[in-house]
Amino acid sequence: MRPLQPRPAGFSLRRRLVWQFVALFLLLVVALFFAVRFAAERASRASQDAILGAAVISVGDGIRAVDEGLALDLPYATFSMLGAMGDERIFYSLMIGDRLVTGYPALPQPPHAPDDLSPVFYSGDYQDSRLRLAAITRRVRLDNRMQEIAVTLGQTRDGQATIARDTARSAAWIGLGFLALAVPLALWTTRAVIRPVDRLAEAVARRGPHDLRPVRHPTPRELVPLVGSLNDFIARLRGALKLTETFIFEAAHRIRTPLSLVRTEAEMALAETSDEVTRARLRRMVRAIGESSRSANQILDHAMVLYRSEQFLTTQVDFAMLTRSVLRSVQPIAEMRDIEILNEGLDESCPVQADERMIEVALRNLLDNALKYSRSEGQVRIRLDKAEGMARLTITDEGRGLSASDSNLTARFQRGSNVSDIVGSGLGLTIVAGVAAAHRGKFTLEPGKEKGACAILFLPLL
Ligand SMILES: Nc1ncnc2c1ncn2[C@@H]1O[C@H](COP(=O)(O)OP(=O)(O)OP(=O)(O)O)[C@@H](O)[C@H]1O
Ligand SMILES: [Mg+2]
Repeated sequence: MRPLQPRPAGFSLRRRLVWQFVALFLLLVVALFFAVRFAAERASRASQDAILGAAVISVGDGIRAVDEGLALDLPYATFSMLGAMGDERIFYSLMIGDRLVTGYPALPQPPHAPDDLSPVFYSGDYQDSRLRLAAITRRVRLDNRMQEIAVTLGQTRDGQATIARDTARSAAWIGLGFLALAVPLALWTTRAVIRPVDRLAEAVARRGPHDLRPVRHPTPRELVPLVGSLNDFIARLRGALKLTETFIFEAAHRIRTPLSLVRTEAEMALAETSDEVTRARLRRMVRAIGESSRSANQILDHAMVLYRSEQFLTTQVDFAMLTRSVLRSVQPIAEMRDIEILNEGLDESCPVQADERMIEVALRNLLDNALKYSRSEGQVRIRLDKAEGMARLTITDEGRGLSASDSNLTARFQRGSNVSDIVGSGLGLTIVAGVAAAHRGKFTLEPGKEKGACAILFLPLL
């Protein structure tokens, strides 16, 4: 029997893990890019601000009051340091109040007036560029009074931005490099994570279909509930099977015995009665009991075959010897009706791997049909040989044969349209077909060459 495949949920755990791992890593790379960029910008801005601050102070320090007015020594070395980070442009202005003394006009002014100790830093737009500026105030005696000179120094930060971007880009590339390493790592990790599940599945699959012991395979903690439920299920199944077995055997005992007792009693009463009406009634009774007893037997045999197909414990069986023994058991019935049973190929042993009891029930049903549907003084031929790599048992009779209108005679309770005069329950061939299927053999029933029927049972050879 093919095991039923579970309905796949449409995703693979392994693939999902890998994708999640890769997506997470990509997210981390993007986060790394921005984090590095932010940190690089902050670090370089802090150091650039320190230089800018020092520069604006030294520009402030270069202001001197001379007789003619003001003199300014521009500290070129400081300016060149400012430009060293990249091709930065530098702007400066000296203003007294709103009056520009020297430098670039209309530079962005600080948000609040700086003092003369520490510069004020701020950003602003000037001539289509973003500037970072520092401003400081110097007090100079001019025209006989102290005047405040606002010194402003600005620089573009293009070079700094480029450096920060380059650093972040390098970090991103390193991150992507790690990602390339991470993909095989993710594959390996997911395989390692899934491996216990695979091992468990293998362990369960390796056991035979009828091995109903609980699963004791070492299980990861997360799978313990699943295996627990599986074991519960196995225990329930075992219980149900045990119950079925008990039921079949008890039913067999409790139904067969009283029925045969009633039948014997009825037959004895029939023998002892001379009243025709009573005799006719008793005859109907015996027939009805016969039918019920037959049905009960067939139903129980069918249940037994179904049950044993589930368990399916096979041993090496000699098909020829078993057939001979079943033949012997039906011989008295054949003799009673003067039917000759001819056999061929039953002297040579024919080992098959089978459940002996199931095969025996199948053989009994086939022979029962051959005798039951044969006319008296006919012949039944039994032949055992090998064909299609299997043992082939052919049982041919010369009876009434099959009606052309009948099909699917192996179905449950299916009887032929030409056999209503003969007692039967329609389960015999269902049993035979079930036995053949359980053994991976096959069964066919065809009309005989000239008359009668020909039943063929194939069983795989050992
Ligand atoms: N050898 C045969 N000759 C003619 N008809 C047969 C033969 N074997 C089986 N059949 C037909 O197949 C039908 C099904 O057979 P099956 O053995 O399943 O049931 P049954 O013999 O009627 O009842 P039982 O369950 O008591 O055996 C029969 O009713 C009969 O019509
Ligand atoms: Mg039958």
